[in-house]
Amino acid sequence: MQRRKFLKKSTLSSAGLVAAPFVASAGSLSTGAKPKAHTALFEGYPMVIATWDVPNATAKAWEILENNGSSLDAVEQGVMVEESDVDNQTVGKGGRPDRDGHVTLDACIMDKDGNCGAVVCLQNIEHPVSVARKVMEDTPHVMLAGKGAEQFAYEKGFEKTELLTEKSRKEWLAWQETSRYEPVINIENHDTIGMLCLDAQGDIAGACTTSGMAYKMAGRVGDSPIIGAGLFIDNEVGGATATGVGEEVVRTVGSFLIVELMRQGKSPQEACEEGVRRIIAKNPDYKDFQVGFIAVNKKGETGAFCIHPGFSYRVYNRKGHFNPVSATYITP
Ligand code: GLY
Repeated sequence: MQRRKFLKKSTLSSAGLVAAPFVASAGSLSTGAKPKAHTALFEGYPMVIATWDVPNATAKAWEILENNGSSLDAVEQGVMVEESDVDNQTVGKGGRPDRDGHVTLDACIMDKDGNCGAVVCLQNIEHPVSVARKVMEDTPHVMLAGKGAEQFAYEKGFEKTELLTEKSRKEWLAWQETSRYEPVINIENHDTIGMLCLDAQGDIAGACTTSGMAYKMAGRVGDSPIIGAGLFIDNEVGGATATGVGEEVVRTVGSFLIVELMRQGKSPQEACEEGVRRIIAKNPDYKDFQVGFIAVNKKGETGAFCIHPGFSYRVYNRKGHFNPVSATYITP
């Protein structure tokens, strides 16, 4: 790989705790100074880590974990907060629609025993992650799609809900004025929530949920509901989840890769860096898209890495509730 300027930044802020950002130059993604303060603070369990600045979601998960709840309940109920937040236009109700004006949701969930469930292209249901959990627990399948998933949700008692808010509808109409009906990948409109939790027993679960790429083609599915791509958990090793342009994550089965790298001895941080390196090695145009990973191992140590600045994540553990932490990144 061509040598590039490699920026690493670690910003911690919680209850007055701030570690100064630092910048280092290195020739490859898997080398360079480690953010030591990060590693020392972000270990132990129970704990929760989630993509992006989602304080209410992480607080909900933490409440469950603190009360000796399971990591599975914590990730489900944590991400449900974002699914219901109409101000979050990239997840659940209020999400931006596809180019035909339909909000279609993707989600998955995975537990400590390797059980998993997923829904793709689900319409009219506010909590796709909970439908995914029902797929996992109540069917012999892993994934249900479209109308079948919706029908299954109604059978399980989920209510039909209008997901397209007035705000998202107006923005979609404005997009139609200028877009020529062409979906455009951009860096800004991917705020999938992925969440990983270790409970008081040290058992790991994860969930990932999104409305996907804004103004996507009808039927488009990204990485978020794909076990191994948007999320992977191995309770012997750790877990990983992704945010950003799903097409790029799917091509490297990113979350599975990161867990396997941890199995081979890499720290969560090193594994996330290698996950990003695999993506950009395949795609020289990586200046045009964002991908970020978070990961956790059995000790509750965390890692996060992305392509462009701007990706942040939240961690709650017994040492504190950490405000948005800027992920380290490579920039083209
Ligand atoms: N990562 C979300 C998506 O690409 O749909």
